[in-house]
Amino acid sequence: MYVFPKDFLWSASTAATQIEGGWNADGKGESIWDTLVHDGTGKIAHSENADTAIDFYHHWREDVALMKEIGLNAYRFSISWSRVLPEGTGPVNEAGLRFYRDLCDELLRNGIQPLVTLYHWDLPTALYRQGGWKNPAIADWFARYVEVVSRALGDRVKYWLTFNEPQMFCGLGLKLGVHAPFEHNTDADMMTVTKNILLAHGKAVQVLRKNCPGARVGLAPTGDCCLPRDDSPEEVERARQRSLSPYPNYLMSNTWWADPVFLGKYPAWARERFGEQLYPMTEEEWALVSQPLDFYAYNCYQGTVDFAADPAGYDDYGYQGCPKTANGWNITPQVLYYASKFWFQRYGLPILITENGCAQQDFVMLDGKVHDPQRVDFLHRYLRGLARAVDEGVPVLGYSYWSLFDNFEWAAGYDIRFGLIHVDYKTQQRTLKDSALWYRDVIAANGINL
Ligand code: NOJ
Repeated sequence: MYVFPKDFLWSASTAATQIEGGWNADGKGESIWDTLVHDGTGKIAHSENADTAIDFYHHWREDVALMKEIGLNAYRFSISWSRVLPEGTGPVNEAGLRFYRDLCDELLRNGIQPLVTLYHWDLPTALYRQGGWKNPAIADWFARYVEVVSRALGDRVKYWLTFNEPQMFCGLGLKLGVHAPFEHNTDADMMTVTKNILLAHGKAVQVLRKNCPGARVGLAPTGDCCLPRDDSPEEVERARQRSLSPYPNYLMSNTWWADPVFLGKYPAWARERFGEQLYPMTEEEWALVSQPLDFYAYNCYQGTVDFAADPAGYDDYGYQGCPKTANGWNITPQVLYYASKFWFQRYGLPILITENGCAQQDFVMLDGKVHDPQRVDFLHRYLRGLARAVDEGVPVLGYSYWSLFDNFEWAAGYDIRFGLIHVDYKTQQRTLKDSALWYRDVIAANGINL
């Protein structure tokens, strides 16, 4: 029997671009996920776009009612920077702010804590045209945006996340060119970008501390958690060390981002790897970047299984016949256990799982329901992994399933579905999947029935 803390956050996650639609409604400015997808430079499956997505912008009231039906006591969503500040800086779009204020009010009325992400990849196009994350002015642009949002929502929102997955918007968007803005920058450029993001984070934390006393602040990184072959101390230590290394590459690693933010220093391997090329930092800058945070959030889908060596030539993530989700990610339920242990051990903060989920190709069946036994099993196993960490004394604040709804999965378009709630994209009809009902029962029992 598993015992979760009394005030455990049972949540589900989304992000503005992936659900809102209303891409130019009521004064919203464009983000790179609008402009670069419309102009065709973005390579999105089937040439799809996020113009309407699941039209949350117009369906949010009924969608909060669905959250309530599932029994969520928290909901993680992101604010669209260009909905609030159409040009990224300059005049505020009051209608945009009002949308988020009304949403928060409706959530709170229904007993649901808003967990707000300030940057989930949708850089305002106007700022992109001025160099985006490569321009050192962006730390101040971001701070101003956070000032506006936190003044408007500070009395309603207790949990704030500055950035979602710097690993991915840098790795996929600015290095590998598969996400907006679809660029291949040099390592020298990525040093500037890294520093600008770290400073932006630091300035945002300052603003949040000023405007939202008592708030709990963090960021939501991802990164590979490497899994041991067995539970022996040597194996566990080997996996932990690898999880702290520049694996699978420096930008996508854990410690490239987490060591500066949580420990106030470069990761141990960085100096040797980059020498003089490493971004320079003053004492004041380190202090800004590494202000104390309240939790270590983590987005986690699959652990790296590097004991694969097999004739079929699988990569680090796989082995012959290993169970997979619809987008080919491995099902490795022990990852929530090890990741929680490793990050708590290293950074000493409570853990908040801000994303974890399973893509499938769900559809409404003849009986009008969406049966998704694979997702139920996935959730059950992963939550047991998390419960094991809780059992062993790791403080875990909450769990947020990705995603509450089927939605726009970036470059993959709409093919794969992560949601607890099925969405028919033609009619915008929502249907609770079996997994939503299963999650509802787990939440009602505070996990005791896992
Ligand atoms: C990471 C991202 O934060 C989210 O936007 C994305 O849809 C999921 N993982 C699934 O890929």
